[in-house]
Amino acid sequence: MDIKAVGVIGAGTMGNGIAHVFARSGFSVVLCDVEQRFLERGLATITKNLEREVAKNKVTAEEKAAALKRIEGVTERGKLAECDVIVEAATEKFEIKTEIFRDLDRLARPEVILASNTSSISITKLAALTRRPEKVIGMHFFNPVPVMKLVEVIRGLATSQETFAAVRELAVKLEKTPVEVNDAPGFVSNRVLMPLLNEAMFAVMEGVATAEAVDEVFKLGMAHPMGPLTLADFIGLDVCLDIMRVMQEGLGDPKYRPCPLLIKMVDAGWLGRKSGRGFYRY
Ligand code: CAA
Repeated sequence: MDIKAVGVIGAGTMGNGIAHVFARSGFSVVLCDVEQRFLERGLATITKNLEREVAKNKVTAEEKAAALKRIEGVTERGKLAECDVIVEAATEKFEIKTEIFRDLDRLARPEVILASNTSSISITKLAALTRRPEKVIGMHFFNPVPVMKLVEVIRGLATSQETFAAVRELAVKLEKTPVEVNDAPGFVSNRVLMPLLNEAMFAVMEGVATAEAVDEVFKLGMAHPMGPLTLADFIGLDVCLDIMRVMQEGLGDPKYRPCPLLIKMVDAGWLGRKSGRGFYRY
């Protein structure tokens, strides 16, 4: 499969990181969001992160300029019709993704692969919204996308081997390491990570230790780059709660119940780094 142009839906944290790595690897990118100001913010982040990479001698100033030139920001979804692959990284709500997948299925050529960066929504369910379920797949990147090596490649029940092989190859071209996973709530990454973060929250709620102490245990005792509560703030507490709920509902085991402190903090609008307050203040 000859993939040259890639569409990315959503210019938020994940979407702009995904556009960044595709453009850095020589693909032309159509980055689509609903409002011009979201595109501008996403493009400003890409510029800043590419500058960071120039400062670290990971890319040259010329490569940075060329990468930026390869990205076209659009608010009109129809512009994605020319793309060979489309990666959806919109808000993590099933209703929003439903509308997007139905629309993409209408506007993209029949051979185009539709990938989702969802962190927990069923790929099988997204695929069933389209007339090309064999061409729908999960391409789950990790934040910060330019730095993290993993792409979890998730096969929906109907995903074809051809689609899987094309996306695996695409991840390698991005200098990432693809790992194959079957569709199940939370896939592997969040199935294992989120209960850890949730349990860290229970430890704080029950007064076992402070957030700082829990994080120190994991940084110094387990060599994690960030402690679990810093990481939860970094991911976003609303995102953590949504993922716990998807696993609770999808797997039905009470061990996936979200920590009441997490629910309370999200109710308060304390969503972590992005809102200025979570387990820490920013
Ligand atoms: N873009 C480009 N480069 C970046 C960057 C960005 N947004 N953020 C950091 N970097 C680079 C820095 O330039 C630096 O490069 P060098 O190693 O060459 O010096 C490197 O990344 C490390 O950055 P810093 O020194 O500034 O900071 P750090 O050492 O504290 O590392 C971190 C930052 C990479 C984020 C590290 O703390 C880390 O790995 N944290 C864990 C991240 C993690 O677990 N992510 C997964 C979240 S879960 C998810 O995304 C999926 C989900 O479904 C919820």
